[in-house]
Amino acid sequence: MSRSAHPAGPRYADVLPEGHYAAPPADLNALDSRVWARTVTRDAQGVTTVGGLDVRELAEEFGTPAYVLDEADFRARCRAWREAFGADADVFYAGKAFLSRAVVRWLHEEGLNLDVCSGGELAVALSAGMPADRIALHGNNKTTGEIRQAVEAGVGRIVLDSFQEIVRVADTAQKLGRRQRVQIRVTVGVEAHTHEFIATAHEDQKFGFSLNGGDAAEAVRRVLRLDSLELVGIHSHIGSQIFDTSGFEVAAHRVIGLLRQIRDEHGVELPEIDLGGGLGIAYTPDDDPREPHEIAKSLGEIVSRECRGAELAVPRLSVEPGRAIVGPTAFTLYEVGTVKPLEGLRTYVSVDGGMSDNIRTALYDAEYSVALVSRSSDAEPMLSRVVGKHCESGDIVVRDAFLPADLAPGDLLAVPATGAYCRSMASNYNHALRPPVVAVKDGEARVIVRRETEEDLLRLDVG
Ligand code: LLP
Repeated sequence: MSRSAHPAGPRYADVLPEGHYAAPPADLNALDSRVWARTVTRDAQGVTTVGGLDVRELAEEFGTPAYVLDEADFRARCRAWREAFGADADVFYAGKAFLSRAVVRWLHEEGLNLDVCSGGELAVALSAGMPADRIALHGNNKTTGEIRQAVEAGVGRIVLDSFQEIVRVADTAQKLGRRQRVQIRVTVGVEAHTHEFIATAHEDQKFGFSLNGGDAAEAVRRVLRLDSLELVGIHSHIGSQIFDTSGFEVAAHRVIGLLRQIRDEHGVELPEIDLGGGLGIAYTPDDDPREPHEIAKSLGEIVSRECRGAELAVPRLSVEPGRAIVGPTAFTLYEVGTVKPLEGLRTYVSVDGGMSDNIRTALYDAEYSVALVSRSSDAEPMLSRVVGKHCESGDIVVRDAFLPADLAPGDLLAVPATGAYCRSMASNYNHALRPPVVAVKDGEARVIVRRETEEDLLRLDVG
């Protein structure tokens, strides 16, 4: 995944990106389990099911486009993270990836905590019954209203991001007669994306307190002086869609270095560290993510080793996976509207959604897979680009894909691994109606976020 944003539009006539599989897959009808939610299957007759339900019936009942979320898979991933990290660590699901009340209830039932980064996410969490002490509030510019909402609710931790915010949270807690548990977010000079990380001396970003520049140590001094704040730990988040743990290793080394400095300067051993989220998932079969138990083992070893070196007791570890839990559990179901073959180039396949329900391809050059799911086909593979219905040429859902050459209007396509940052970043561009999220489990489907209607749009337009 490239991180460079580009003006929407210019990349429509390029060839396959470097390193992309140029050859079609051996069997176009096969659904590669590496990218599909766990209960997705296709039988010998070509019928594709999820949670025991035929996707054609889901399209019929709920319409397209729709995000279809495999609840059993979501819960299994929660459990895998919980069990991998064990009783001495906490797993905070990052709600920004996708949040709804049903999801909050599943998290609660599966023993996960929740990381929110806005008053809106906090409101959803509280309204669905997540105990406030299992919620963490993040953000580089929380409003005073959001801070108040969080302190009043009694959230388990607020992650402090700036000197101004230290004062704001302390004042709010004092006025409310509370002692608020806080962590300090530090920038460790590590940036990790996909398979690489960069360690830099300076931290050129908006988040957190710089470790190298001394701001982090100064933040600790200030927080420790304030009675209305209880400093419980240090927080670091190094990036997203990360496949190897070497970036976390450097981050843990630096965070634990700060813990040692705090002990030496203040005689205080902070009881917690949070290493953030960012663990990668498979968007295409080329991606090879680590399993939660491997990640837990690796992070646990890194932290223990660093603490031994620093002669510190091992603090309670927490992590904040968002994408790695919800990303693989959903696919977007679309109906094909038009098919436009361009001799010698590729075939443009237009679906009934697009950049309003998945901005990630246009925004990050993200890669996705796609499959015809309403039937099987023996036709030849055809190099395709799956595009949306929006009024710009950068409206691409899947840049390069092989689909059967007999693809026709009315066919259903599904794009897997759209559970994270698709519905949560969806927009009403062109006054598109944001699609529903349909949760499926054990042969039953239910809408957990309904489709928007034109009335919803008109209700906001009060001019
Ligand atoms: N913790 C903190 C403090 C974060 O900032 C984030 C994500 C996470 C946890 C969860 O990261 P995850 O495990 O989901 O990668 N819109 C982008 C991703 C932005 C991530 C922002 N922070 C995308 O679609 O790829």
